[in-house]
Amino acid sequence: MKNEDSEDRPRQAHDLAGKVVVITGASSGFGRGAAVAFARRGAVVVLGARRAEVLEEVVRECEAEGGEAVAVETDVSDAAEVAQLARAAVGRGGRIDVWINNAGAGAVGRFDQTPLEDHGQVIDTTLLGTLYGSYVALRQFRQQGDGNLINVASIAGKVAAPYYASYVAAKHGVVGLSAALRLELEQEENAPAIHVCTVLPDAHDTPFFQHAANYSGHAITPPPPVHDPAEVIEALLDVAVNPKDETIVGAAGKMSAATRRVAPALAEKMISRSHAKQMETPPAPETDGSLLSPSPVGTGVEGGWKKKKASRRTNRAANPSEPPSRDAGRRPNDKTV
Ligand SMILES: NC(=O)c1ccc[n+]([C@@H]2O[C@H](COP(=O)([O-])OP(=O)(O)OC[C@H]3O[C@@H](n4cnc5c(N)ncnc54)[C@H](OP(=O)(O)O)[C@@H]3O)[C@@H](O)[C@H]2O)c1
Repeated sequence: MKNEDSEDRPRQAHDLAGKVVVITGASSGFGRGAAVAFARRGAVVVLGARRAEVLEEVVRECEAEGGEAVAVETDVSDAAEVAQLARAAVGRGGRIDVWINNAGAGAVGRFDQTPLEDHGQVIDTTLLGTLYGSYVALRQFRQQGDGNLINVASIAGKVAAPYYASYVAAKHGVVGLSAALRLELEQEENAPAIHVCTVLPDAHDTPFFQHAANYSGHAITPPPPVHDPAEVIEALLDVAVNPKDETIVGAAGKMSAATRRVAPALAEKMISRSHAKQMETPPAPETDGSLLSPSPVGTGVEGGWKKKKASRRTNRAANPSEPPSRDAGRRPNDKTV
């Protein structure tokens, strides 16, 4: 990750000043962090998520950074609400320069033990939400003659993992959808200046894991290394001004994708082994998390997993006879979300 003093930061600030940037899933995690980061660089940010009161808080944070921000309560699994988000952005800024489909959610557990309704909602939010956003963004970009669509997928969109079946399917769908849109644009002789970028994060420390539905029967904490969400926020800023087809964020994700290319069976075996270990953790109650309806928990950029691991290390160093804590009661988590 480039640090704040890196020499291209002033160029980013200049390139984003006054740009209209729509971000879905802006009430926590990457989306919240990106909202503030884009606002700090002078963009007009138009923010969508279901938790309207949290979005208002993010708007105030963006304004405190000197930026302009608008909140639009949006359920991305409803095409009409996504179209309304686009209208609000054009109403505010006259155009849309960058559209980031970031909203997403998962359900963890054995496929046939997870309610069908939950699998359906994972697809509706994570894949259809991205499709609806891509649709309204591309129609607006065609009218303008330019624009940059950024779809947040996951390394799970490249390498499958057990116990996340509908999420893996949705993220493979996001990767495929984005690639198909790029190919369509390439077919055109006088293609407009429209870019489609896919960002594929590995495991990062966000509230994603508090928000996921869990029918696995087990509490799973993210295995190390849990990356800093700032890496993904930085990647979003970067592709917004320097569009790239696909950007994997996180060293373990890059390694998994590379292994998948040369030895697919090995890559899947490695992921399956790591998941199997995670299903041996202490029992945890079933929950639909914030998949079916929004939950008040988890409004920050970070999920607190990195801090928890650091404090467990400190406790073990202070009291080596104490058995390692397994974070009972927390929701499952995984390296390849
Ligand atoms: N954290 C990771 O390790 C990781 C890794 C790879 C990919 N990702 C992807 O990164 C994206 C952001 O996730 P995150 O890690 O930042 O987790 P997060 O904190 O849980 O963020 C998810 C965001 O999506 C919104 N959302 C959920 N359902 C929605 C719906 N139906 N309509 C509108 N918004 C909805 C949530 O807001 P409301 O509840 O307010 O609607 C929230 O703002 C997701 O696509 C996720 O799959 C995360």
